Amino acid sequence: MNNIVILISGTGSNMAAIVKAARRGRWEARFGARVAAVISNRADAAGLEFAREQGIETAVVDHKGFASREAFDAALAAAIDRFQPALVALAGFMRILTPAFVAHFEGRLLNIHPSLLPAYAGLHTYQRALDDGCWFAGATVHRVTADLDHGPILAQAVVPVLPGDTAATLAARVLTQEHRIYPDAIARLLADKS
Ligand code: GRF
Repeated sequence: MNNIVILISGTGSNMAAIVKAARRGRWEARFGARVAAVISNRADAAGLEFAREQGIETAVVDHKGFASREAFDAALAAAIDRFQPALVALAGFMRILTPAFVAHFEGRLLNIHPSLLPAYAGLHTYQRALDDGCWFAGATVHRVTADLDHGPILAQAVVPVLPGDTAATLAARVLTQEHRIYPDAIARLLADKS
């Protein structure tokens, strides 16, 4: 079984999009793949409730319970390893990961970032794009490397910046595209494996 583990910190709408795509696209029958677990660093992440309702195993590894980034990442890696995942998808997971964690999951770790990387790595991507007068914004699915928000690009979506856009309206337009490209990119990787 190609287990997929999804890491979230909040709403989890990308996670939900992946779960729904897995069902709709019959990933289990076609690729022997399933979303095995959703893991959050925050117990109050809204997405955990959705995952539980779907009958998906959930776990919380609260970063506040650890003295160092290394200790948190080691506990997180152990929680993920229980599922022996083929893929680990970061989906709005708001922690910077240590090089050791990234190395441990090398080749299996994916992320979605709300900009057209390599532009606007880091936070506040929408406001920065607006401030720079960009005509286009977007989202990127990429493999995770030790370099924050970099790594080989697997998919991108371009969205126009419209007159009167605020960070919030732009974010909403980008998010609908994220929900399309992240499941698609994962399905493509699974198809390549099978
Ligand atoms: C998305 O915009 C994602 O690109 C970014 O954080 C947001 C998470 O949204 N990394 P959600 O939790 O998937 O709804």
